[in-house]
Amino acid sequence: MKYTLIVLALLAPLTAAASLGNLELQPEPNAFVQSLRELRRAPPLETSRKRANVETRWFTLKLDNFNAANNATWKDRVLINEDHFTDGSPIFIYLGGEWEIEPSAITSGLWVDIAKEHNGSLIYTEHRFFGKSFPITPLSTKNLKYQSVQQALADVVHIIKTLKLEDKYKDSKVIVSGCSYSATMATWIRKLYPDIILGSWASSAPLEAKVDFKDYMEVVGQAFEQLGGKYCYDLIDNATSYYQDLFEGGQGAKAKKELNLCANFNVNSKQDRWQIFSTIANVFAGLAQYQKPGNYDLPKYCSVLRSFSDDDAEALSKFVQWRLGYPTCLSVTYKGTVNYYKWAKINYEDDSGLPWIYQTCSEFGWYQSSDSENQPFGSSFPATLYTDTCHDVFSKNYTLINIEANIAATNKDFQGIDIAVKNVYWTQGGLDPWSKVGAGIAQGAIIIPQASHCSDLDSISANDSPELQASKLKLAQLVRDWLAQ
Ligand SMILES: *[C@@H]1O[C@H](CO)[C@@H](O)[C@H](O)[C@H]1NC(C)=O
Ligand SMILES: *[C@@H]1O[C@H](CO)[C@@H](O)[C@H](O)[C@H]1NC(C)=O
Ligand SMILES: *[C@@H]1O[C@H](CO)[C@@H](O)[C@H](O)[C@H]1NC(C)=O
Ligand SMILES: *[C@@H]1O[C@H](CO)[C@@H](O)[C@H](O)[C@H]1NC(C)=O
Repeated sequence: MKYTLIVLALLAPLTAAASLGNLELQPEPNAFVQSLRELRRAPPLETSRKRANVETRWFTLKLDNFNAANNATWKDRVLINEDHFTDGSPIFIYLGGEWEIEPSAITSGLWVDIAKEHNGSLIYTEHRFFGKSFPITPLSTKNLKYQSVQQALADVVHIIKTLKLEDKYKDSKVIVSGCSYSATMATWIRKLYPDIILGSWASSAPLEAKVDFKDYMEVVGQAFEQLGGKYCYDLIDNATSYYQDLFEGGQGAKAKKELNLCANFNVNSKQDRWQIFSTIANVFAGLAQYQKPGNYDLPKYCSVLRSFSDDDAEALSKFVQWRLGYPTCLSVTYKGTVNYYKWAKINYEDDSGLPWIYQTCSEFGWYQSSDSENQPFGSSFPATLYTDTCHDVFSKNYTLINIEANIAATNKDFQGIDIAVKNVYWTQGGLDPWSKVGAGIAQGAIIIPQASHCSDLDSISANDSPELQASKLKLAQLVRDWLAQ
């Protein structure tokens, strides 16, 4: 074999399917759910050896910020780092998104460096229904009606108002940042509450809600082609076609065996087939979404992919097994996914991502389908895979027409990518699949070539590309300008 397995040692495998407790009713781990979880994780940051005092505080918030008659409350988790703070200096908020918050995002990185320059206090807010911040349980469809971006932004405003009751914060100006969905929030909170938020840094903010987000996989393909090499793109493309042809040509049993699918996979079920092809694409998307060009991440993953076998199809299958932690067999049935989410509604299993999936159904869509021809993952997973899930997990009211109406309402509320808002700095990765629904050059965004999703969160370093470094310096200057206003 031309390629050696030494490359493997360079790359930490994905942690095996997270242990999900030992409740008897717990459905078996599902590879599709696992692949989605990987796409939803908090952005990875360089680890820091710096010590910092991060305090955890719980803020009492309203369950329903928009209904005065509902006086139910809950406690939201907030992390605070006041190591650099002097009274009256600014508050630098980093907004939590659809993940659990943890201290490192406010102990090191670019935002911390900028806060330090201004003697700022660093605050990390946990979004309702994630981490340890549940306003209400269980996660029934009825209770999840309190999950929305509007509610989450009002939560943040309430936290700011509470902080500003303290003497030391009463004169503090407030600026916010976020990445991915929390960058969407950073944009929208500045739009909705300009008197409270002075300015926002939005790294990789999706701004336009969309049901069929078919451009996403195009950019995943481009990342593999441009950074991993044409051979890598072609390998994925050919292997996917090979399996797709087997299923479509009546050889599903052969594909099932070669992909190591569990016995319960029904080769004649369209929905099961959507799941396996979507899972394979998600495995590659997870790598593209957080690749660092300076680390040669995709060239390394591509050579690992090739090293598994000279045969494209076998190489792809083995690579996917490796990335999913070598399960005995890949469990990817549609019914298994729906059952798992239904189980999570009752057991509010934190890692399920259920409240985020609810938001995709009720507000955003962003279903990463295979509907574009310009990507290497075949044509076997339509957005219907996800809209069916909305319908089968949450409510029969989630018909495609109603989901489209929800998405249209979000774009009406927030004006998509052409949102009129000042003092927002949008940064985008040139190879970030999410950039397709974010602000572009025309809207004033900075595009960092070759970069992926949320790739500019770390401190300025010698490894930064010139464009990345320039963008970081520009942000630092903008913050100075905003604070001087
Ligand atoms: C909430 O409102 C209800 C009805 O208005 C009232 O009975 C109840 O005491 C209130 N609870 C709190 C904690 O204020
Ligand atoms: C930050 O605090 C230090 C020490 O209290 C002070 O000397 C400095 O002027 C402050 N800087 C700013 C930007 O407020
Ligand atoms: C495509 O993949 C199949 C299955 O691995 C393999 O037999 C075939 O040679 C590949 N085709 C090309 C052009 O590499
Ligand atoms: C069903 O969904 C539509 C679109 O979101 C919404 O307007 C309507 O109120 C919903 N009906 C019920 C019974 O929830």
